[in-house]
Amino acid sequence: MSYDLVVIGTGPGGYVCAIRAAQLGLRTAVVEKRATHGGTCLNVGCIPSKALLHASEAFEEANKHFADLGIDVGTPKLDLKKMMSFKAEGVAGNTKGVEFLLKKNKVDTFHGTGRIAGAGRVEVIAEDGGNQMLETKSIVIATGSDVARLPGVTIDEKVVVSSTGALELDRVPKKLLVIGAGVIGLELGSVWRRLGSEVTVVEYLDRVLPGMDGEVGKQFQRILTKQGIAFKLSTKVTGVEVGKKGGASVTVEPAAGGEAETLQADVVLVCIGRTPYTEGLGLDTVGVQRDDKGRIQTDSHYATNVTGIYAIGDVIAGPMLAHKAEDEGVAVAEMLAGQSGHVNYGVIPNVVYTFPEVASVGKTEEELTKDGIAYNAGKFPFTANGRAKANGTTDGFVKVLADAQTDRVLGVHIVGADAGNLIAEVAVAMEFGASSEDIARTCHAHPTLTEAVKEAALAVNKRAIHV
Ligand code: FAD
Ligand code: NAI
Repeated sequence: MSYDLVVIGTGPGGYVCAIRAAQLGLRTAVVEKRATHGGTCLNVGCIPSKALLHASEAFEEANKHFADLGIDVGTPKLDLKKMMSFKAEGVAGNTKGVEFLLKKNKVDTFHGTGRIAGAGRVEVIAEDGGNQMLETKSIVIATGSDVARLPGVTIDEKVVVSSTGALELDRVPKKLLVIGAGVIGLELGSVWRRLGSEVTVVEYLDRVLPGMDGEVGKQFQRILTKQGIAFKLSTKVTGVEVGKKGGASVTVEPAAGGEAETLQADVVLVCIGRTPYTEGLGLDTVGVQRDDKGRIQTDSHYATNVTGIYAIGDVIAGPMLAHKAEDEGVAVAEMLAGQSGHVNYGVIPNVVYTFPEVASVGKTEEELTKDGIAYNAGKFPFTANGRAKANGTTDGFVKVLADAQTDRVLGVHIVGADAGNLIAEVAVAMEFGASSEDIARTCHAHPTLTEAVKEAALAVNKRAIHV
């Protein structure tokens, strides 16, 4: 079988790349080793985690906040099995959707492990051992990432779990110990805290969400602590021992060294990052270069060092985000079709889907200071936003960072209800090179949370109205 393009992996990077290529007239096939399409994101990542975040938030609302709204529903009872089926339905709806889209766009699909047999040749090895050879002009590797392991700690997905196991627990652990205060730790920690677990997060660094704006991290940690999550920062895990009757003993000590302490937990969630996944691809046979972190090296056109082989998504450098993978998929497809695809890495929003949400785009204050860029900061708290007050969701703030000379918006950081949606207007504004004045002079509907974005933009030039 002969193609213009074979994409290996049908996560957000791969399936979007294949659809765009087919739209542009390239004869395209995909190879996926999972039974369903959609990759990590749809099967065991973005979608199931958001379904559980949504359901557990509703449970917490009913449990703790409905009474304040004058709604008496008594004490809600958790049916975890039902909640897990709700999650599974969301996943199935999405993965089936991708299958439909691939078919609709006439992308041929092959199930099995894709191995690059040489430039222009992809071998598909099916689970039953059967194999097929696909001939193709170009290959896009979109094989994604896998859970990073903690040396000496075995993930059994029962007591010691990765995010995949934490999305499948069949009972609410009394004590959940989370290793890593990154996105997964705080999202899934929130899910199980809302459902009744005592959650302790152990983090090696002295802050949560490293990489995000420092002030945002501090305020967010304060909010989560108020909600009942305990943090042990600047602490390293030196051992995890699973007990004979279940549960685990986790030995921790200060990151800088010092006295060790043992913590007991029913379930331990290891979420210390993810690593690029290239197993079984045959990269060494064809000589595709990787960097010291195992990521496939590509140039600005997503081309590897081997002619005709490209790579996108989690398997290459950059933030491990579904929308980054998707945009790279579109860009490489357009380049292969002779167009000029492009991804603006300066404007990739990053959202943590807890309550409240955290959302960020562009540079943090720490990055601007490090790069020696003079900036003005405008901040607006949700306590001063009419809609947030009416809704009783006043935790958090919006911070706009703008170039001191040109007023161009360089970064925006939000902690607050619906921050993930609020960040979208700022991303569009930044993509168009907007100044804080542009955002400030744009009419924002009242009463909406978006007015906090406008007020933070006004605050850059010290003329916020409502504080
Ligand atoms: P993947 O989605 O990992 O897809 C790669 C696919 O390739 C897989 O289906 C795999 O089976 C297949 N594959 C691998 N090797 C082969 C082979 N040799 N042959 C055939 N097939 C192969 N990102 C967000 O933006 N928002 C979120 O809310 C979010 N939530 C997340 C929650 C969790 C718990 C996790 C773990 C991740 C989350 N992410 C989120 C990250 C997101 O899932 C990834 O950034 C995204 O899936 C990367 O897409 P990808 O296409 O590069 O790879
Ligand atoms: P992460 O990189 O976000 O966080 C890992 C955390 O673990 C960091 O704070 C790090 O300092 C800490 N850590 C590392 N080693 C440690 C150790 N030995 N002991 C204690 N702490 C340690 O990684 P995470 O949370 O596993 O997520 C993986 C990826 O998935 C992220 O890169 C993220 O982009 C993506 N993701 C995105 C989501 C979103 O967009 N909402 C949701 C979930 C995941």
